[in-house]
Amino acid sequence: MDVKKMFDEKLSRRGLIKGAGMVAVGAAGMASLKSGGLDFLSNAEAKGGATEKWPWPYEKLDPEKTAELAYNEWYRLFCGGAVISSVFSQLREKVGEPYKSFPIDAYVFLEGGIAGWGTICGSNAGANIVSNMIIGPRIAGPECENGAVIGANVMKWYSETSLPVYTPEDPRVKTELVRTTSDSPLCHVSVGKWMKASGYPIGSPERRDRCARVTASVAYKLVNDLNAWKDGKFKETAAWGPVKDFGITSQQNCMDCHGSNIPSAPQAKK
Ligand code: HEC
Repeated sequence: MDVKKMFDEKLSRRGLIKGAGMVAVGAAGMASLKSGGLDFLSNAEAKGGATEKWPWPYEKLDPEKTAELAYNEWYRLFCGGAVISSVFSQLREKVGEPYKSFPIDAYVFLEGGIAGWGTICGSNAGANIVSNMIIGPRIAGPECENGAVIGANVMKWYSETSLPVYTPEDPRVKTELVRTTSDSPLCHVSVGKWMKASGYPIGSPERRDRCARVTASVAYKLVNDLNAWKDGKFKETAAWGPVKDFGITSQQNCMDCHGSNIPSAPQAKK
């Protein structure tokens, strides 16, 4: 895949006027976020146009079909873009706007844990972007009910599951791939543990197909949770409390990085 060619084509097709509009929407959104509070959920439309009005309508999707889409899209957009595309391309058909205006391909940058930095695995980031659009952010509280933790729930599941769990109908790589548990939502840790267990290097077809299958697994899990939420049956599998319990944002298994010597954060003065 030639990413540069892809963008050149897209840009020339889209034209400059629409492009400028998207930038304005983004700036307005940021301004309302920075001004504090969550008013962007209620009167955002006035500030930013249709795409700034949350949450967006959701129609239940077939998890298996979504996983297949995600698997194939990985080979075009990598992990994060592929998760977003697998869900939003279907909602573009079933719902239309504002999904049609969402720039799916722009999220190709989530590859390699964001521009190759191995931070969050793009499939987790993509899942959070999708659930955020459909339900709203975790910090919005009761307005979004407990569904707002679907993104966090996916990261917990990702960390604890021996991945990849999803095997595509017609995988590009036919050899059986080992599964590993990352104990982390991070790209670097997840890919690194898998490479150590499998012996395959980063550029191998096997590692690439492993990540495509992890992406498909996450898309499956995400849509499964969204469907349950739509039916009013979604259940959070664990409470998140690092800030409350430790005074710092984090994944919960501190020992995975700190060993038994976990530092304590400064506490607010009483
Ligand atoms: C993904 C790996 C990772 C995880 C998981 C993690 N940390 Fe850290 N943490 C680090 C790194 C790296 C630093 C930088 C300082 C260092 O080298 O220890 C750090 C720094 C800190 C600091 C700043 C003070 C200091 O000594 O550097 C605190 C406090 C801290 N971590 C607490 C926690 C707690 C509590 C948890 C679990 C709720 C946690 N961390 C989970 C990697 C991690």
